[in-house]
Amino acid sequence: MTSPEPTPFSVVLRTASAAEHEAAESSSFMGHLLNGRLGVEAYAELSGQLWFVYRALEGRAAELAEHPVIGPFIDPALFRTAALEADLLHLRGADWQAGLTASPATAAYVARLEQLIDTWPAGYLAHHYTRYLGDLSGGQIIRGIAEKTWGFEKKGPGVHFYVFEQVENPAAFKRDYRSRLDAAGEALDEVERRRVTDETKKAFALNGAIFSDLDLRYPLSA
Ligand code: HEM
Repeated sequence: MTSPEPTPFSVVLRTASAAEHEAAESSSFMGHLLNGRLGVEAYAELSGQLWFVYRALEGRAAELAEHPVIGPFIDPALFRTAALEADLLHLRGADWQAGLTASPATAAYVARLEQLIDTWPAGYLAHHYTRYLGDLSGGQIIRGIAEKTWGFEKKGPGVHFYVFEQVENPAAFKRDYRSRLDAAGEALDEVERRRVTDETKKAFALNGAIFSDLDLRYPLSA
């Protein structure tokens, strides 16, 4: 008797995090952003918080590129730090770094990323997947809304973060990314697959905490 084919890891991650995705999408902060009701200063602050996150995600890419599981995912075409810096220059001016601090939620996310890179690089995959596949998907919806709500030039300063200049065909890129996820899943044992799956849910929760924090700092005035 042949054993049934295991579920591809890309499907495992998507299915396991579906409820968390739904929660992120329908969070109060994202809801206000999607409704076009958020002030541009809240959007600028989101970009600032993301800068801390992406610095941690990308700052040690050279080290991670050597890792057998993570290496195939490290791709400069995805890097967002420089795009965020260009956006922040537009949104906050030349001294954009002055007064920009990581919120407690952002600091906790950064600390988790650092900890994973130091102690369990395979767990980093959960965050790579959650952020970049999200940016290539829902991020495109957010870009359109940001352009419309605050009048940013289409794909211009303010929304560079959401524009992947070096990814010509996002749908094809995502297909290829999912096959890399499937291969990574085959290289991991059952326990590790389970741990990465749990870490993916945690990644959504850490992102959700950043939104909750922003929601408190930028309440809508009815
Ligand atoms: C405004 C809120 C959001 C909207 C409208 C949205 C929308 C979408 C859509 C339409 C897809 C499917 C795209 C496709 O299959 O090609 C998707 C996928 C995804 N989104 Fe979101 N999203 C939002 C927020 C988020 C957030 C906050 C995160 C994480 C931080 C996230 C992470 C992901 C991931 C990882 C996928 C890929 C799922 C998979 O196919 O494996 N999304 N999103």
